[in-house]
Amino acid sequence: MTQSRVSAIVLAAGYGKRMKSDIPKVLHLAAGRSLLGHVLGAVAPLAPERTIVVAPREFDAMKRAMDADGFTGLEYVVQADPKGTADATRIGLEALGDFDGTVLVLPGDHPLLQTATLEDLVARHIESGAAVTLLTGENPDREGFGRVIRGPAGELVKIVEERDATPEELKITEFNAGIYAFDALELVRALGKVDAENSQGEYYITDVIDVLRRDGRRVNGHVVLAADVIGVNSRAHLAKANKLVRRRVAMRLLDEGVTIVDPDSTHIDATVTVGRDAIIHPFTFIEGDCTVGDRVEIGPNCRIVDSAIGDDAVISFAVVRESEIGARVSVGPFASLRPGTKVADDVHIGTFVETKNSVIGSGTKVPHLSYIGDAEVGRGVNVGAGTITCNWDGQKKNKTVIDDDAYISSDTMLVAPVRVGKRAATGAGSVVREDVPDDALAVGVPARVLEGKGDRMKKGSPAPDANLDEPR
Ligand code: UD1
Ligand code: CA
Repeated sequence: MTQSRVSAIVLAAGYGKRMKSDIPKVLHLAAGRSLLGHVLGAVAPLAPERTIVVAPREFDAMKRAMDADGFTGLEYVVQADPKGTADATRIGLEALGDFDGTVLVLPGDHPLLQTATLEDLVARHIESGAAVTLLTGENPDREGFGRVIRGPAGELVKIVEERDATPEELKITEFNAGIYAFDALELVRALGKVDAENSQGEYYITDVIDVLRRDGRRVNGHVVLAADVIGVNSRAHLAKANKLVRRRVAMRLLDEGVTIVDPDSTHIDATVTVGRDAIIHPFTFIEGDCTVGDRVEIGPNCRIVDSAIGDDAVISFAVVRESEIGARVSVGPFASLRPGTKVADDVHIGTFVETKNSVIGSGTKVPHLSYIGDAEVGRGVNVGAGTITCNWDGQKKNKTVIDDDAYISSDTMLVAPVRVGKRAATGAGSVVREDVPDDALAVGVPARVLEGKGDRMKKGSPAPDANLDEPR
């Protein structure tokens, strides 16, 4: 391959009117990553000399999203008044100065674009010595795309936008993908000749093709797989693209050794990593910034968002958000782990348990019907059915501490702030308003503390649930 310098211009300043949205179109998500993020992700491995993003006037959110995706070295230039794709390209080119290599021009709304497709485009372009090489697709479902007009010998003549096409031209199934490799100097020259004489009164990059051909330059159209070059202009396109991106993610994971029982009913974002021999059952959503360990079993019916799941964990019928789950933990069925839950190894969180902003130590069991909020629970603790950390006193949140090896009997109300000491215990139905020292037992309403009677493992200790209360 002839060597050539390559820079990229990504067009991302359009209003995206057809989305009817308050956020820029290119920041809408397909399988958990912005459309623009997908495009830049395809471009990055080509390591262009410079990557220019043509951005709208307010591009803070865009920059933040791209920073969060880990893209570095992007240069943003503003197109304050979007007057069309040719105008946006001109603004990007100005930023490139006197660059005279190959310029890739791409839309920001093509989430299915792949690196290999771009590499192939650049290689063909450089080899052919054409002024422009553009990608096209063949699809009867090409609504909204520009049509590719070819001459009798199959040579590329021009692109006609759908709105400006004749009924005959509308029947053409080859569409313009909107992805181009240009000779930079030819592009600068041709852009100067593009006018806005069309139904939208916009400057179209597609008109550059016609200009170059009329000027006797070589123009190349290369047909690629239509599914790789789907552009998103509407919510309907977004739904379609989402499905295709998700499908691709599922295929990659299957290839990496993950069992996805039914890819069609499983939604895993592009941002998720899953370990070997994990099994994902149907109706499971794994979204955002998630890492799932080896041999984990998730589903059916789970939603895991921005969370880390340790090896060999088993989660079913559960919602887990912004949480960390250790190895060999079991969660569910019907559990809700809310933000800030940190569960150590070998923990069991059972049926109808809700947790929030709490740390739960290794080997601890919370098997049924409990609320653990703003709590620090030690190792080897048993939390009986119906236990509630009463963290909200009507005005503010308070903390509960349950120390290692404590035993909390069923239906205990831990009225925070409160601490239950090491090896301490509570009786069933107790309402604990004061701290329970290490090894003590608290029983009744409000709970009385019986020093030294809490360690149920000690010889001669009463069972915490034995009737120790005086008759009333
Ligand atoms: C464009 C092509 C069309 C092609 C399709 C492929 C033109 C005139 N038409 O149409 O032939 O089939 O892409 O997806 O180019 N943008 C700017 N500034 C502007 C206008 C647009 O930055 O002033 C950006 C948009 O944010 C978007 C990209 O350019 O990322 C393409 O614009 P869009 O309006 O989506 O063009 P299409 O109508 O899809
Ligand atoms: Ca588009």
